[in-house]
Amino acid sequence: MSVHTQSSRMTTAKVRQAKQTGEKLTMLTSYDFTLASLVDAAGVDMILVGDSASNVVCGNQYTLPITVDEMIFLTKGVVRAAQHALVICDMPFGSYQINEDDAVRNAVRIMKESGADAVKLEGGADILPIIRHMIAAGIPVCGHLGLTPQSVNQFGGYGLRAKEEAEAEKLLADAKLLDEAGCFCIVLEKIPAALAAKVTAAVTCPTIGIGAGNGTDGQVLVLHDMLGLNTGFKPKFLRHFAQLADEVTAAVEDYIAAVKDSSFPSAEESY
Ligand code: KIV
Repeated sequence: MSVHTQSSRMTTAKVRQAKQTGEKLTMLTSYDFTLASLVDAAGVDMILVGDSASNVVCGNQYTLPITVDEMIFLTKGVVRAAQHALVICDMPFGSYQINEDDAVRNAVRIMKESGADAVKLEGGADILPIIRHMIAAGIPVCGHLGLTPQSVNQFGGYGLRAKEEAEAEKLLADAKLLDEAGCFCIVLEKIPAALAAKVTAAVTCPTIGIGAGNGTDGQVLVLHDMLGLNTGFKPKFLRHFAQLADEVTAAVEDYIAAVKDSSFPSAEESY
């Protein structure tokens, strides 16, 4: 029997409460049962099945190619692993931009088929009617502002967003709109720390930062990045909490050597 009771599960209401008590929120990505089980057991508050799976799992350059079916497949494994954490599934590019009906239909599919607790969408005022529709349908929505990777072709890269006054003002206005619409939290990606702190003070829902300084209500990182599995990616905001690429490489090299010199399997490892 699971040691976690139903009441120990994270909920969107508890996420909101954390802002009142001042307790910092933790979010990490996961894309499979095994790693999500470890992340959940370690006590993270929220697991994001990010569309960064397009990069991390599928090896694509951008997040754009991943599909609703692929996100559902990955999220199912994470949901089976999560005893405590709230599971959020990213809505992939093209699954919510066409019209409100299509967006709600895809969000309902994700919720029904994957078992996720909530969805995440990138954008502000432009997608507000869609977000309102989803929330009215009973689907908890996490917003995402700043560097929104699905818009990489408009931005022309993954640089810092909202450095200029006009974009910063728009971001602040967008955050207020998402908050008023009922988003239970908002991810702020790669924006100046001072702006992220200002947004955090201006909204009632928690803000979750990535590359947005220490003034947000919580933090999120891509699991493979913070574990040091992806050595080619080291932006300023990223801390490697482990160096797993080195450990994996050493273990695989040891295995190859042991097979080649016939020391594996030993008599004890044989039937
Ligand atoms: O897809 C993702 O992993 C994300 C996080 C970086 C917030 O959106």
